[in-house]
Amino acid sequence: MRAVKRSRTDASKRDAISTPPPSDISSQSEVPTSEPISDTNSTSNVSHPSPPESLASSPMRLRDSPRLVDTVSKGTSMVQSYLALNVPNLQKTCPDCNMSYRSHLPLDRQVHAKHHDRAVNGRDWQDSWGKEVGSFSIQVAKGASQVVAVLEIDPLKKTEVRVGDELLHLANVELNAPQDSGFWKLQKTPSLSKPLLARGKVYVCVLRAKVIGLVSFETSFPETKSTGRWMILRTGQVIPNQEFPILVGISRIFVMKKYRRNQIAAKMLRLIQAHSIYGIAMIKRQQIAFSQPSSSGGQLAKKFNGVLHKKSGEWLVPVYLEY
Ligand SMILES: CC(C)(COP(=O)(O)OP(=O)(O)OC[C@H]1O[C@@H](n2cnc3c(N)ncnc32)[C@H](O)[C@@H]1OP(=O)(O)O)[C@@H](O)C(=O)NCCC(=O)NCCS
Ligand SMILES: [Zn+2]
Repeated sequence: MRAVKRSRTDASKRDAISTPPPSDISSQSEVPTSEPISDTNSTSNVSHPSPPESLASSPMRLRDSPRLVDTVSKGTSMVQSYLALNVPNLQKTCPDCNMSYRSHLPLDRQVHAKHHDRAVNGRDWQDSWGKEVGSFSIQVAKGASQVVAVLEIDPLKKTEVRVGDELLHLANVELNAPQDSGFWKLQKTPSLSKPLLARGKVYVCVLRAKVIGLVSFETSFPETKSTGRWMILRTGQVIPNQEFPILVGISRIFVMKKYRRNQIAAKMLRLIQAHSIYGIAMIKRQQIAFSQPSSSGGQLAKKFNGVLHKKSGEWLVPVYLEY
């Protein structure tokens, strides 16, 4: 655990920008690893693992009937046959959850339906899971508000870790992002006093026994060095030679589609400011950076801790390189 000093500043001071944005952003360089991730609708997508079905054994409807084409090479008696399926591309990408699946395969459709429901409406959560970090209210219908509990996943509990992985998978599919390094799980360390340590946490937002949002974040970094950089929101370019220290790196932040634009992500970020590092009453906004923000993630970052670079008129958001 890093040595930290308890801060008792007032709210306005807390949120004051501790790291001034650079005065000159003309010499930008592109850092490919920090390119924003696309939101949904990309076609180059993660397709879930489904075993290939044998054509020979699968019943085929008439319109799917294969055309058998024979080609005979002159001078030889070799005959090569190949299947030319006269059907359009059956690989579909769902515009809501971004999963790619083969719509003609029942198993694929089933896997997609389950994934889709979780990504749009939320995933089931049991009362006994998680440790409460805080709560807030959201307006679910006109005039009616409901309490959302924010809970931390316990890395010692196998079931919670498995559910955490499943939830992060929903975010990764929508973002076309790779799996994270597992920094929020317990990992072996060389230290005898702390042989197992997690480098971060996962918070989930639970409404009526469903997870409707989550955030995974790093609180300690490899080589004990963590640096933020400014990214130009419009272009995704990172400004070189302008590094600043951060305390928290947001690896993934995800709100189920049905619940977006209800301040859920904003509330999770506020709770991270208040609770993520033991001994710090309130982390400053500029001590939090985002890993490869998507376009909606970029907008969230802009609102949360973006800085307008007056000279150029560009919005800058703090980003960091996730290991
Ligand atoms: C990014 C994401 C987490 C935002 O969650 P959210 O709960 O809808 O965000 P909030 O309601 O808290 O938004 C807070 C502010 O951020 C900005 N914002 C968030 N999403 C925005 C969007 N899609 N377009 C424009 N502004 C947006 C707004 O200023 C908003 O305040 P406002 O609604 O009063 O204008 C959500 O869109 C999501 O899950 N996207 C897919 C995953 C993703 O891209 N994650 C980020 C990268 S890891
Ligand atoms: Zn879907």
